[in-house]
Amino acid sequence: MDFLKKFNENIHIFNELNKVEGYKCGSYLCDGTNYEYSDLMLEKQKILFQKAKTAENVLEVGVYRAHSAFIMLLANPDLKITCVDIDDTLSKPCTDILNKHFNNNILFIKGDSKDILNKLPKIYDLFHLDGEHLNETVENEFFKILQLNKNQKFINVIFDDWLCAEKLINDISNNEKYEIIERIEPKSEWGNLFLSIKY
Ligand SMILES: C[S@@+](CC[C@H](N)C(=O)[O-])C[C@H]1O[C@@H](n2cnc3c(N)ncnc32)[C@H](O)[C@@H]1O
Repeated sequence: MDFLKKFNENIHIFNELNKVEGYKCGSYLCDGTNYEYSDLMLEKQKILFQKAKTAENVLEVGVYRAHSAFIMLLANPDLKITCVDIDDTLSKPCTDILNKHFNNNILFIKGDSKDILNKLPKIYDLFHLDGEHLNETVENEFFKILQLNKNQKFINVIFDDWLCAEKLINDISNNEKYEIIERIEPKSEWGNLFLSIKY
């Protein structure tokens, strides 16, 4: 079933997430002008949906109103997601709402990705990096997720707003330590980038 059909069937959950009071800005589903679904980002929503379909364990950095977690759970209601956000004002109540609808599939951790990512005990088959959109921060997160999956030497990662980390992406692409198995760059406003990397 495709993303928009699933989203429209579950629009009551999208509306419930809006009842949480707090700072409002753009998200994976809204362009930041008001709380309305925006198809300007449809292609990046679709790639997140598609890659979540076949995953079992996801690590997400940057939760905000939990819209990206919602997209992934629409794709795959059995998915387990570890969600990390430095600010729990919206992310905690919003992940609580998703947990009510999706069988407690989200483990929410409040904290800075710098401190949290090297303490996680698991291997993840998909990473979604959507925290602080600065090259230095994304680079720090990237090296930590490589460590997390070091036994299998393979990661699938979606970088949101990836041009903020263009230097890192170029470094990965030009470094023979990394073999890029798949690269998907959807045409979208505030685009994301999927990379499947062997290392
Ligand atoms: C762009 S928003 C995330 C959007 C969300 N994924 C969505 O679906 O709309 C970025 C989030 O990252 C969080 N954040 C910023 N810096 C962080 C850090 N160093 N560690 C963890 N979370 C961070 C912010 O608190 C904010 O909630």
